[in-house]
Amino acid sequence: MDRNDLVCICKSVSYGKIEDAIDNGAQTYEDILEETEAGSVCGGCIERIEEILDRLVVK
Ligand code: FES
Repeated sequence: MDRNDLVCICKSVSYGKIEDAIDNGAQTYEDILEETEAGSVCGGCIERIEEILDRLVVK
């Protein structure tokens, strides 16, 4: 995925914004929601966000 690719269309949240939120300490979908509002409209992107978290969050 490219940093400019939109993950959440409703809130125009790009992959880069999700990456930055994770770099800033976000570890769960709730953290991403709080920081970016991604997923707060139709919810269709939540699964994609969970997948990104699975890949990028160091456990
Ligand atoms: S695409 Fe993210 S809330 Fe609709």
